[in-house]
Amino acid sequence: MILDGSKNFDEQHKGINRLFKEYQDLKVKDANKAKELFEKFASNLQRHMLWEERILFPILLQEGCDNTSHAVEVIKVEHRKILQLLKKLYLKVSQKEESSREEEELISALIKHEEFEDDVLHPVVDRSSKKKEAFEAILDISYEGFEEDFSITID
Ligand SMILES: [Fe+2]
Ligand SMILES: [Fe+2]
Repeated sequence: MILDGSKNFDEQHKGINRLFKEYQDLKVKDANKAKELFEKFASNLQRHMLWEERILFPILLQEGCDNTSHAVEVIKVEHRKILQLLKKLYLKVSQKEESSREEEELISALIKHEEFEDDVLHPVVDRSSKKKEAFEAILDISYEGFEEDFSITID
């Protein structure tokens, strides 16, 4: 579990990306260990997206931040796309098949998504009066059907 209440928005993204890099570095040397790292990455990524949707966005929308509602809709659509790519890659990783193309698809979607959030949401989050409690609440997120058929559960 890399995400905790003390992390800021940007650090959560960096932590997720770091886990993905560690997985990639390991996959040639040790496929089993790489799979474990991939599952950790997937778990943290899901937790982060769930946290954004269930905790962060409602707070931002409630505070009536200008232009946030459109951004939130865009982000939710991107989350579904990222989840699909994550599933596709997980299938390959589980079967220890060549997965470079799927990795590339996922990481480029993820980086684009994170850049959008950093540009659009980061400043809004920084101004939020509930910023501290929002970040602390990430620990309350449990896996309860973000995607019911998804086989990587949140640890
Ligand atoms: Fe997101
Ligand atoms: Fe994010």
